[in-house]
Amino acid sequence: MKKALIIHNRISENALQDELDVLDQVGVVEKAFTDLGYETFRDDFDLNMQRVKDSIQKIDPHFIFNLVETVDGKGNLSFMAPALFENMNIPFSGSGSFAMYVTSNKVLTKESFINSGIPTGEWFSANELNKLNPAKRYIVKPLGEDGSVGISEEGVFEGNDPKIKDFLKNNNPNEFFIEEYIHGREFNISVIGGKNGGCVLPPAEIRFIDFPEGKPHVLGYKSKWDEDSFEYKNTVRTFDFPESDKELLEKVKQISLNCWNKFNLKGYVRVDIRLDEKNNPYVLEINANPCISPDAGFYAACKQAGLKFTDVISEIIHDAQR
Ligand SMILES: Nc1ncnc2c1ncn2[C@@H]1O[C@H](COP(=O)(O)OP(=O)(O)O)[C@@H](O)[C@H]1O
Ligand SMILES: [Mg+2]
Repeated sequence: MKKALIIHNRISENALQDELDVLDQVGVVEKAFTDLGYETFRDDFDLNMQRVKDSIQKIDPHFIFNLVETVDGKGNLSFMAPALFENMNIPFSGSGSFAMYVTSNKVLTKESFINSGIPTGEWFSANELNKLNPAKRYIVKPLGEDGSVGISEEGVFEGNDPKIKDFLKNNNPNEFFIEEYIHGREFNISVIGGKNGGCVLPPAEIRFIDFPEGKPHVLGYKSKWDEDSFEYKNTVRTFDFPESDKELLEKVKQISLNCWNKFNLKGYVRVDIRLDEKNNPYVLEINANPCISPDAGFYAACKQAGLKFTDVISEIIHDAQR
């Protein structure tokens, strides 16, 4: 019987929902591997890589499913997991260590967008407040966190608002950067690896319902994790679009496919895009190995495409071996 090892990040004591969510993902992935006829094993990944390596060698899996979202609580160390699997020469799900390294640092990603001709909003470092344009709005974002950790409407400022300085005084400016606020609609585009390269799944829009005038449209921590909050209840994913959006949807799909190709992505990804007032798209970030729990965007897009989750896992396994 073939053996599949599912590796996830070590769960810390007193973990909150954004961290515990990985265990839901382990559950659905484990079930899919069982349906595919694999014997399954679980382990977690931490800074003690020798321990992880020994444990992998003992199990000697045919395939590793990589659900390591953070290492030592840090998203920008997640590349260490695929780096180890690459060195051990064991096929694993999702993107390789280099793509993980680049995409888990939002500024490195944006530099690559510019080099690759992929549209992205203007940005500068949190130490360059002299670049603020008083007539524009900005959002202060963490460089290397995911799942909206550290992102909220409190990070949105007008360029002439002195409070931005207080915000950065209370947070380490080296861990944040400042991005132009993109005012329009928000899309999540999921892409899965197929025989002929990346295959774009049905685009989703996140609609901000009944947000009071002036309240920034930000999918922050509350909208993703706090089920009782206004932000959670009033941000809704939809796959329904009027005919008049056809051209726009083709455009955001093509941009997402360009991301897949230029960043050498593999397995499954989700690209987050916003539009400006004139409907020009800008890529916010690439989520390589995005959340695949049943309530997340990637899973919803697979369902919308009529794909069974077991077939999705099967495609991801094949893509790792292409
Ligand atoms: N430049 C921006 N303009 C407007 N909204 C933004 C911008 N950057 C981020 N946001 C909002 O914050 C959310 C989270 O930002 P994102 O860069 O996707 O980080 P995360 O890794 O936390 O998902 C986005 O889904 C969007 O709603
Ligand atoms: Mg995002």
